[in-house]
Amino acid sequence: MDRVQIFDTTLRDGEQSPGATMNVEEKLAIARQLEHLGVDVIEAGFAASSEGDYESVCRVAATVSRPIVLSLARTREQDIDRAVRAVERARRPGIHIFIATSDIHLQHKLMMSRQEVLDAAVWAVTRARKHLDYIEFSAEDASRSDADYLVQVFAAVIEAGATTINVPDTTGYAVPEEYGALFRVLQARVPGGDRVIWSAHCHNDLGMAVANSLAAVQNGARQIECTVNGIGERAGNTAMEEVVMAIKTRPDRFGVETGIVTEQIYPTSRLLAQITGITVPLNKPIVGDNAFAHEAGIHQDGVLKHRLNYEIMRPETVGLASNRIVLGKHSGRHAFVARLKELGLDTTEVDMNRVFERFKALADSKKNVYDEDLIALVAQESLRGVRDRYELVYLNVTSSSTAVPHATVKLRIDGEEVAGQGTGDGMVDACFKAISEIAGRHPQLQRYAVKAITGGTDAQGEVSCLVSEDGSTVTGQGSHTDIVQASALAYVNALNKLEYRRLYKQKPQAEVGP
Ligand code: KIV
Ligand code: ZN
Repeated sequence: MDRVQIFDTTLRDGEQSPGATMNVEEKLAIARQLEHLGVDVIEAGFAASSEGDYESVCRVAATVSRPIVLSLARTREQDIDRAVRAVERARRPGIHIFIATSDIHLQHKLMMSRQEVLDAAVWAVTRARKHLDYIEFSAEDASRSDADYLVQVFAAVIEAGATTINVPDTTGYAVPEEYGALFRVLQARVPGGDRVIWSAHCHNDLGMAVANSLAAVQNGARQIECTVNGIGERAGNTAMEEVVMAIKTRPDRFGVETGIVTEQIYPTSRLLAQITGITVPLNKPIVGDNAFAHEAGIHQDGVLKHRLNYEIMRPETVGLASNRIVLGKHSGRHAFVARLKELGLDTTEVDMNRVFERFKALADSKKNVYDEDLIALVAQESLRGVRDRYELVYLNVTSSSTAVPHATVKLRIDGEEVAGQGTGDGMVDACFKAISEIAGRHPQLQRYAVKAITGGTDAQGEVSCLVSEDGSTVTGQGSHTDIVQASALAYVNALNKLEYRRLYKQKPQAEVGP
């Protein structure tokens, strides 16, 4: 079967989701998991956009070995040179150069003529080609560009050395038939088009990113650009798990295959949700909690009689175990390690003694430890390399129906323990106020959400809070069987991320992005 490359842009376009900013260690944890998942290309960031992005691209390039590692770049000298330098240590380096081609972008954003854009594109590809063999060129807003002009631009950049041609539906405006037809026309008309890989890059503004990407594949595209859980600008990008499973489930329609290890889909989705705090809706295809749940009696009866009555995919195929209760407080280290292996979790960067200790503590506080708990534990541990300024040492919160909620908190700040107190409208509010007081920072809380990782009254609560300070917005994450503790951990995590942003003076990508 023909192979379709999976180009993952979770760390670049995905990070452009509001509040999805990740620090270097978090990006490395995602990149390692993406390699494990079997993606072909990782777009690690936009090296010229900030010091933080530059460092992330460099570190991802030095960490993964099988996938191609790219940095995004505009058609500017400084962008190209910085991107080339950032991917220097990659075993398989590449660059992704883009410039807009639609008249609307040319007139109202770039203020450039068609000839100037064409010259800039050729100049940039020629410059990058002196250093790199793998060159992707994107015509931003291609789906709203004049087809004759696209043919001209693509022919010129192929001649200059581009090896992959990307046709983005930047605004999520296209519909499947139209987007598929554009691929057909371009492949037929662009001289040299048979020497390159044609790539689809779709946004989900009208809910058609996955359908458009699949239409492109049916019309010759052999690369799909996507993100885990479909995160990304505005309504997001093509969801990796959805296109991959559509291709796998309907070989009769697509006749192609991907290199994705589908059993790693669910752990990857969980890791990203945990890091970014962007949770997956219950009814999200493939990775939502309800994606494989049969509620109606008639459906349950049908599934029990024969799975294929209502199931088109098996949950195990995407990494969801069917035997969900796995371990408890009597489970030994051997069973614990064996289960992590069965789940295919990447434990290379994890101190197994510490994870096992934390597992024992968790098993003491809740009866059943589920696969989802284990995935969360390993994800938290694999992020421990982050240089955290603040650490939660102690928390005591009191409340009753008559007394004002009161919190006593101890934090370790730069290695020194500092205690403080706070009162508030509720226990979580009191706790956040105490932490803010001690840290001397008062970010604005924009969103607070709590979700049970598994079922039952002893479930671990996973809290995410979106906070803003001085123009930076970050999401903090915390999980614990006690949701007030989970909230405190999430808030402290958010403060650490704000500190990281301050240190790296990381500009929000929107200011410098495409
Ligand atoms: O959506 C888009 O056009 C992009 C380009 C930079 C490829 O993300
Ligand atoms: Zn995009």
